[in-house]
Amino acid sequence: MYNSKIIGLGKYLPENVVTNADLEKIMDTSDAWIQERTGIKERRHILKGSDDTTYYMGVKASKIAIERAGISPQEIDLILFATLSPDYYFPGSGVLVQEALEIPNCPAMDIRMQCSGFVYAVATADQFIKTGMYKNVLVIGSEYHSGGLDMTSRGRNISVIFGDGAGAVLMTREKSKKKGILNSQLHSEGKYAQELSLIGPNTRRWVPEIMEENNPDDISYFPHMNGQFVFKNAVVRFSEVIMAGLKKAGWRPQEIDILIPHQANLRISQFVQKKFGLADKQVYNNIQRYGNTTAASIPIALTEAWEEGKVKKGSKVILAAFGSGFTWGSITIQW
Ligand code: UT7
Repeated sequence: MYNSKIIGLGKYLPENVVTNADLEKIMDTSDAWIQERTGIKERRHILKGSDDTTYYMGVKASKIAIERAGISPQEIDLILFATLSPDYYFPGSGVLVQEALEIPNCPAMDIRMQCSGFVYAVATADQFIKTGMYKNVLVIGSEYHSGGLDMTSRGRNISVIFGDGAGAVLMTREKSKKKGILNSQLHSEGKYAQELSLIGPNTRRWVPEIMEENNPDDISYFPHMNGQFVFKNAVVRFSEVIMAGLKKAGWRPQEIDILIPHQANLRISQFVQKKFGLADKQVYNNIQRYGNTTAASIPIALTEAWEEGKVKKGSKVILAAFGSGFTWGSITIQW
């Protein structure tokens, strides 16, 4: 039996910056509203006609993570791809990464857990590594949101929040039981599946039916979010899973070197920070620059924190997420 650890990190953000002022020009919103409610100043949107897609951004982030891990792509035993915006309805995006990285026939699995996707994927990789079944696992979180958002005033409560991007980590074996991933907490509550969802087309209403209806007011193929309800659940669930992770590791909140919360809303991160009495330097936030990139937000933030020297050998790190499903979880890491 092994522990698992992260040995390489990478991120990729499309170049195209969309500021709040840019959004003011196309919908009824304001920089003041967006900053006050979410903390977001700008986000990245893939430019139409660019080569970037969900899997391709994942490949770019992965190449950096693999290089930093000091292994070759051919040594990867498993790919886990977390996304809610896969390139195709099917197959998943993981197989596209396997092909692009020329990894011979390794298994590639998509994880459809939305904002908690990266946390679920790391927990899954951890289990495969712990049992000895696989040695090197590539874990990716990538989202191409911008093409599927309602960029009119009708969709403003969602479309101002989300951004595109990708992050990836390479995980491998760790011999010491006191290092690497110490524990993971995973939960879901399907009772609230519709509160944050994109339901159309679906198996009760396939595309031919939607086309037959030909209803210009049909918004079922845009994301829907009951914002305040999601917010209230998020702050409770974030706190619970962080507490559970701390307890299992035997850490006090003051001992955390860095908490990397899913970047859903700066107000949520600030609420959690206050609840645990954490100093600013103990919580990493970059939603101001990238918006909410769903499954990509934690690996992007973790990579940036590592690049800035805020995650290093000996660091006590906690990753935590909450989102659509509802799903939520945390990962406790002794770096
Ligand atoms: O990542 C997955 C998990 N997601 C989350 O955790 C998100 C959780 N929820 C939130 O972050 C917040 O609920 C939002 C940021 C989405 C919304 O903030 P809110 O304070 O809950 O606003 P609200 O939806 O209650 O709307 C307040 C007002 C409404 O106007 P009236 O009815 O008071 O006149 C909205 O129509 O703000 C209006 N509004 C906007 N105004 C300007 C909604 N969106 C916008 C907008 N610009 N973009």
